[in-house]
Amino acid sequence: MGITILGIESSCDDTSAAVLTDGVVRSNVIASQAVHLRYGGVVPELASRAHQQNIIPVVDKAIGDAGIDVGDIDAIAFTRGPGLMGSLIVGTCFAKGFALARNIKMVEVNHLQAHVSAHFIVEDDKPLPRFPFLCLLVSGGNSQILLVRDYMDMEMIGQTIDDAAGEAFDKCAKVMGLPYPGGPIIDKLAKEGNADAFAFAKPQIQGYDYSFSGLKTSFLYTLRDELKVNPDFIEQNKADLCASLQKTVIDILMKKVIKAAKDLKIKDVALAGGVSANSGLRAAFEQLHTKYGWNVFIPKFAFTTDNAAMVASAGYRKFCKGMFCDQSVAPYSRTTL
Ligand code: KG4
Repeated sequence: MGITILGIESSCDDTSAAVLTDGVVRSNVIASQAVHLRYGGVVPELASRAHQQNIIPVVDKAIGDAGIDVGDIDAIAFTRGPGLMGSLIVGTCFAKGFALARNIKMVEVNHLQAHVSAHFIVEDDKPLPRFPFLCLLVSGGNSQILLVRDYMDMEMIGQTIDDAAGEAFDKCAKVMGLPYPGGPIIDKLAKEGNADAFAFAKPQIQGYDYSFSGLKTSFLYTLRDELKVNPDFIEQNKADLCASLQKTVIDILMKKVIKAAKDLKIKDVALAGGVSANSGLRAAFEQLHTKYGWNVFIPKFAFTTDNAAMVASAGYRKFCKGMFCDQSVAPYSRTTL
């Protein structure tokens, strides 16, 4: 048997454990936390408590599904940060205890690098992106363009200066009375709407940085003005609002990725993070291949939102480079890369 890594992800509201051998996924178990639904967003303290309840059964299932013995695990990789501190503490403490009990190595993983590392998961028919490549990392908390030079050598060349793309989806969904998280619902409703029905503001920012707060404000002003004359405006125009909002977010994201790839003469481009589940964004990325002949890498749906397979994938690459941590390691809530 090759190198087997147990990965742990607990940075936000999903408790996940996965087992990878030589970068190939043997199991990937995710327990999502329904407890937050009634609050319209993640409540950090409730997330920590749910992680505590979930972590042992989730790890147990991941090991069982992988068909391995606990003694086959060579190292445990865990998300050290960024994320919610209480949630990260649960995963970090579990990893420390497990490593001590099993006398195995620990590998700490940056959550953002983990999202990119979803592209390093080994599958028979799938080529890996060639270095250097660009990765658009879009989630509820981040919108970044990364220049990936090697497995663990990533430079952020652009990022949002205010809201993240997922945040824009979630906040606009909230004002339309849609449940959290809004991204998947907007994606679904957008399929039935006219994407040219409404025009929302787009940022004019130099370089590769993003901004989504202007779009959010413009969306809110449209609702406010229209609701004054028609109280049923949202209900009657939901699909068109979702389609127009989604198109604007995608246009904003794609413009900078294309600019960066052209400027840096890079032909391998990848997509990562929770928002990469968006069907419109995936289609826009596919078009980069048709239009420019670039090699496009889009993660499987299971590896878009928070999952431990991507953590174990990053952990495997760090293991191969001998990048371990010890029992003094502490989680961090904020950082880029
Ligand atoms: O990476 P992720 O699971 O969590 C972190 O932010 O850490 O991303 C969650 C974000 C949420 O904002 C959610 O609304 C968004 O990903 N999302 C989507 C879709 N699925 C999830 N946004 C647009 N379209 C989707 N299909």
